[in-house]
Amino acid sequence: MGLIDHLKWRYATKKFDAARKVSSEDLEKIKTAIQLSASSYGLQLYKVLIIEDNKLREQLKLASYGQSQITEASHVVIFCNYTTVTEKHIDTYFTIKSEVEQTDISVFQRYSDFIKADILNRSDLERNKWSSNQTYIALGNLLNICAELKIDACPMEGFEAKKYNNILNLKEQGLNASVIAAIGYRSKEDKSQYHKKVRKPFEELFL
Ligand SMILES: Cc1cc2nc3c(=O)[nH]c(=O)nc-3n(C[C@H](O)[C@H](O)[C@H](O)COP(=O)(O)O)c2cc1C
Repeated sequence: MGLIDHLKWRYATKKFDAARKVSSEDLEKIKTAIQLSASSYGLQLYKVLIIEDNKLREQLKLASYGQSQITEASHVVIFCNYTTVTEKHIDTYFTIKSEVEQTDISVFQRYSDFIKADILNRSDLERNKWSSNQTYIALGNLLNICAELKIDACPMEGFEAKKYNNILNLKEQGLNASVIAAIGYRSKEDKSQYHKKVRKPFEELFL
């Protein structure tokens, strides 16, 4: 089965089988796919929370317009972008890069200065939007790896970010809940799995 078949198999799951859990082995694979996501300049300006705790998920469901996926899924993955991007984020990237590539960090000085000037000259709003955009690339990889592993997922924007930030103490860490995904296994009762894919035809989608 290739990627196209996996993409045809997946759908935004509305009702999960609450009795089935994603294995820790599969969770590691999902984490690896997220880790390998492309990001602007490679900075990965986000953190990812994977939540299983039922009590916490009950609270999050209230902040998600009561969507049942939050509590019925196996886990909820929360992509949080950094709201304050600082020089430290860029320095961290170059520290890792110099270690991985076994190169003296001074070699990257001009490139590092260039990135800092580019990012730090943007307005807070632009920077937030930009770091939030990066989380959607990681979300895309999560959807793809889940489809390959035959794990169901529902990408979700239907939640109140401010409430999530409070519940999960994200603001204190300079983070904001950007987008989330519920992952687990579809319930037989989920009618959405039987629906045909609704997509624009090529003529409409491509110029
Ligand atoms: C960023 C994003 C946010 C979404 N938010 C929700 C949501 O809050 N609740 C929900 O049930 N589905 C949500 N969806 C699922 C979409 O409605 C669904 O992906 C779309 O209708 C296409 O259908 P398919 O994914 O089943 O092929 C979201 C999808 C994306 C990509």
